[in-house]
Amino acid sequence: MSTLRLGDKAPNFTAQTTEGEINFHDWLGDGWGILFSHPADYTPVCTTELGTVAKYKAEFDKRNVKVVALSVDGIESHHGWIKDINETQSTTVNFPIIADEDNKVADLYDMIHPNADDKLTVRSVFVIGPDKKIKLIITYPASTGRNFDELLRVIDSLQLTAYHKVATPANWKHGEDVVISPAVTNEQIPDLFPKGHKEVKPYLRTTPQPNI
Ligand code: BEZ
Repeated sequence: MSTLRLGDKAPNFTAQTTEGEINFHDWLGDGWGILFSHPADYTPVCTTELGTVAKYKAEFDKRNVKVVALSVDGIESHHGWIKDINETQSTTVNFPIIADEDNKVADLYDMIHPNADDKLTVRSVFVIGPDKKIKLIITYPASTGRNFDELLRVIDSLQLTAYHKVATPANWKHGEDVVISPAVTNEQIPDLFPKGHKEVKPYLRTTPQPNI
């Protein structure tokens, strides 16, 4: 296992999931993906997280993002737990959960941080682009449930900045003005950003979001 960094190829694997065996790269196809880990089945925070992700399915679909969860418990345990998630979170789990009993995927993605817990995975999130490269890594501790609105926000930024020469400022949300990439010269701006721009400083130029 080596440390994974942004821009690295997302390691491929085959794994048993609650929706059958998957080859990760084949399963991703040519869209975007999220791989996220959970410390364990039948735990309270994870139960709320998986219920939340199920409810956000339409938002992920809209962005062409497939989601797969992982914990180091087995398939039977996952299936039993899904019944509880559906019941308590008033939803239907609609994405696969990897049963990583031998820690194969957890080790590949460095999801076990022994000084936090030597057996269970932390709450890792990997966003993978259509080129199978890692675009985002976030790590939360077991005691903090993730903010999935933030994840959608970052995906909006990643998908925008992948195709336009812009970056997104602090607390940016879909629909708000964006920052023009420093590599763009002032001469190029009218062609690239016909909606106009503001020059706050020569290095800080803003423009309306170009893809809406
Ligand atoms: C939870 O998901 O609730 C949880 C899991 C491990 C440690 C603490 C909380």
